[in-house]
Amino acid sequence: MALSAHEKKQQAAAAALAELRDGMVLGVGTGSTVNALIDQLGPWQTRLRGAVSSSEGSTAKLRALGIPVLDLNEVPDLGLYIDGADEANPRRELIKGGGAALTREKVIAAAASRFICIVDDTKLVDTLGHFPLPVEVIPMARELIARQLMALGGRPVWRERIITDNGNQILDVHGLHISDPRALESAINQLAGVVTVGLFAARPADLLIVGTDRGIRTI
Ligand code: A5P
Repeated sequence: MALSAHEKKQQAAAAALAELRDGMVLGVGTGSTVNALIDQLGPWQTRLRGAVSSSEGSTAKLRALGIPVLDLNEVPDLGLYIDGADEANPRRELIKGGGAALTREKVIAAAASRFICIVDDTKLVDTLGHFPLPVEVIPMARELIARQLMALGGRPVWRERIITDNGNQILDVHGLHISDPRALESAINQLAGVVTVGLFAARPADLLIVGTDRGIRTI
């Protein structure tokens, strides 16, 4: 049976719920797949100690459910982080940041003992880079970084009118064929003025839950 992308996202989100435990603090990502997860968190409202959120949007949805949203600085033991992705490869390396929340997402992924990524099967690729790679930059460095990204073989496009939750800007880098995600993540992170690159390769997902027409696939 052919499922819509939304149904596959709901399916992946439902499968991730099985990983929740009573009393835990849950790291919550951003995007439509995560929204499908939050929509299913109602029964967990009194069972979770709280959530750490990667965006103002997810925070508002969690608070509307009555789930306490905690400051990461108050949570030394974040057990689990669940988030979506824009692309994922078979090594569970990801491109994230389509929703402009990449910096907080990377911080929460770094803090969590376990990172589960939930996607529909349209996000799976052999080689990352078809989805334009988001890079969050300090505004004054935008054009300098754009020139350096061109030297790395990409075609950066400023995501105009978008200001991140941290007050920064986003360059979306088109035309990359990312054969070595860890090396590119490290190279872009070292450019002065880059806050975060949306490659999650040094810290990939621990588990990828993929919604497909034939049910859940885990990687
Ligand atoms: C947010 O900045 C992104 O990293 C999201 O995780 C990503 O864009 C996935 O979004 P969807 O679940 O809406 O596809």
